[in-house]
Order: sequence, then structure tokens, then C-alpha cells
Amino acid sequence: MYNFDKIVDRLNTDNVKYDLREAYFGKSDVLPMWVADMDFETPDFIQEAIRKRAWHPIYGYSFRPEAYSMSIVKWVERRHHWKLEKDWILFSPGIVPALNMATLTYTKPGDGILVQPPVYFPFFSAVNNHNRKLIENQLVYQDGKYNIDFNDFEKKAKDAKLFFLSNPHNPVGRLWTKDELQKMGKICVENDVIIIADEIHCDLVLPGYKYIPMASLSKEISAKTVTCIAPSKTFNLAGMATSSLVIEDEGLRKQFAQTIDHVHVGSGNLFGNVASIAAYTHGDQWLDELLNYIDNNFKLLGNFIEREIPDLQLIKAEATYLAWIDFSKTGLTDEEIKQKLLNEAQLGLSPGPVFGSGGEGFQRMNLATPKVNVLSALDRLKSVFGA
Ligand SMILES: Cc1ncc(COP(=O)(O)O)c(C=O)c1O
Repeated sequence: MYNFDKIVDRLNTDNVKYDLREAYFGKSDVLPMWVADMDFETPDFIQEAIRKRAWHPIYGYSFRPEAYSMSIVKWVERRHHWKLEKDWILFSPGIVPALNMATLTYTKPGDGILVQPPVYFPFFSAVNNHNRKLIENQLVYQDGKYNIDFNDFEKKAKDAKLFFLSNPHNPVGRLWTKDELQKMGKICVENDVIIIADEIHCDLVLPGYKYIPMASLSKEISAKTVTCIAPSKTFNLAGMATSSLVIEDEGLRKQFAQTIDHVHVGSGNLFGNVASIAAYTHGDQWLDELLNYIDNNFKLLGNFIEREIPDLQLIKAEATYLAWIDFSKTGLTDEEIKQKLLNEAQLGLSPGPVFGSGGEGFQRMNLATPKVNVLSALDRLKSVFGA
């Protein structure tokens, strides 16, 4: 029903991915497959809801109606079988702001915060910006798959006040299993570590996999968890600066609400409210079709690399639209890989080292783009890194 092959010209819309290429890569002619938004149109039912509200010419102070929380409650139950209460939901203008607010709310300078690199780089700044102590439980990369070193996790948790979880994990594409989540959750409960579960990519699950919300595992784990969700990745609404936090525990929720209140970011964005409600109310079919399209882009990339570029390896993605590609067999340094991608392949990817320890030798490629762009990227990769 929806046409994800459609090319939409994004130039000169003040968008980061295309219009900031010169600033980010030093050249404006790269095919941009970096920052995590999609080249697909936001679905028609969201556009229409925004247009309808825009029709009224006054955009003054607004509040979130009950439909805002209820649309989230129903979506999460329908899609992920997790029962929430609407009062558990708080607003945040973004998930990165939420990570930073969590740091300010639940820790003091010098306190330890546990992260699992290679991971989405704002996890590091949400620790370092506030002079907290970064504690790393590096993921173990073995035979093309990422796993958790639980002994190390347990040791490190003893020194941590917070744990920033990425579920699904950006950039390695793992969707943590029930068993893995349960082990991490249990260790956090035993060591009094609050879990900030960044589940922003949770709707973007590839066929054959299942997302399990960390907080859905048990009362004990939920009582220690702040879950961060948003329609921004799922429906390409990042510019709306609208996301939500689910906190069952009243004490943790009150503390977080106070921070939101103190920095005065709780009012949110009028159009973000409208977009979020429309997305969660009408988004099922569009999302199912999107996931098939992304899955096909992954297959295209994986098959091509296997056939034509034996020096590269695509890590099997279980979720997200971000492909994590191992370049280490090329024998090139990260700087050499970057230069070749930019100057020979004219491709703008996200270099692995920005995701911290374990990112060396990797590049992240955004596949939320029409197939012609993926095909073009494959040709470019083959011409530079092919056998
Ligand atoms: C794991 C993760 N968290 C948060 C964000 C961004 O959140 P926001 O734009 O709501 O600050 C991203 C974007 O790529 C992400 O991958």
C-alpha cells in the first residue's frame, strides 16, 4: 500500500543528513547513509493530522491530552504485549535529553554509570558532560555475533548507580533475549543500579525476532527501570522532539518529573503531540510494510557483500535499520577506511570508532532509504573494496 521506493528530494529542508554533509564530511557530494533518520516520507495519516492542526492559525501554549498517553498505552500493549498505566508516562523532548536528565536526577558527580560499547555515542556524553564516571562493559564480538560478558557486567555493576541499556542495541543490531535481559536486570536489582532502558528502536524489529521490554520482565526489575520510547525512529519524526518515558515506580517517577519541571522542558511541542497520537493510533500497517522493506534492504546488502566483497562482513541485524559492517579484513586503518569511503566511494557512513571501544574497524550504514540508494552504495563499495 505504501511506496518506499519513492525518492523524496530532501535538499534545502535544513535536514542534518543531506544539508550538513559539507560540515560533517567536508564535502557535499557523498551519498549520505549516516545519521539515523529515514529517507522515507512520514506516513500520510501523520502528515494529515499535522496539516489539520496547522490549519488553525494559533500555535500558543498547549498541553498533552489524555489521548497522548492512551495512544502509547494501547500501542505498547498491541505491538509488544506490555501493559502500562497511563500515569506511568512522562514526556521528554528527546531520548538523549532523557539520558542526561536521568544522570542529573539519579546520580551525583563522581558516581559510576555503566554502558556497553560499542554503543550510541551520546551515552558517553551523558556521563562525561556531568562529570560522572564512565564504566564500560564492552560487548564481546565473536564469530560475527555480539554477546554480553556477564561476569564483567556483574563486577562493574557493583560500582555503578545507573546502567544505560540500548535495547535493541545501536549500532550492533542485537535485540537482547529474555534470558540476557533477565540476567542484566537481576544483577542491577541486586546491586541497586537503576536501569535507563533506551528502547527508542524497539518498534523496528526485523522478521523472526521479538522485542522484550526490560521493564516487562518482573515487578522487581520494573521498579528499577526508566524506559525511553518514542515515535521518532519508527515513524521518521525526529524533528518533532517528542518522546516518552515509562516509569512504574512512583518514587523514581516523581524524581524524574521534578527534573523535567526544573529545567522546564515538559510543555513539549504542539505538533509533536499531534504526530505522536496519529502515529501510535494508525501506524500498524505502515510499520509492518516498512519493516519488510528494511529487511529486504538488509538481505540485498548481505547477499551482495557475501558474493562480491569478501573483505567485508555484515553483522546479522535483529532490529533497527542500521547495518554494522566489519571492515577489519581489509587490513586498513580506520582513517584509511574513512578516506576511501569519502574520497573514492563518495559514501557518508558513521565510522565505528565514534561508538567507543570495539568500534574500531567497523562502519555503520543507514539502510532506511529507497532500494536504488542501497544499490548505488553497493556499487560504490564494490568498486573500492571489491575483490
Ligand atoms: C539508541 C538511541 N537513543 C537515542 C537516540 C536519539 O534520541 P533523540 O533524538 O530522541 O534524542 C538515537 C538516535 O539515533 C539512538 O540510536
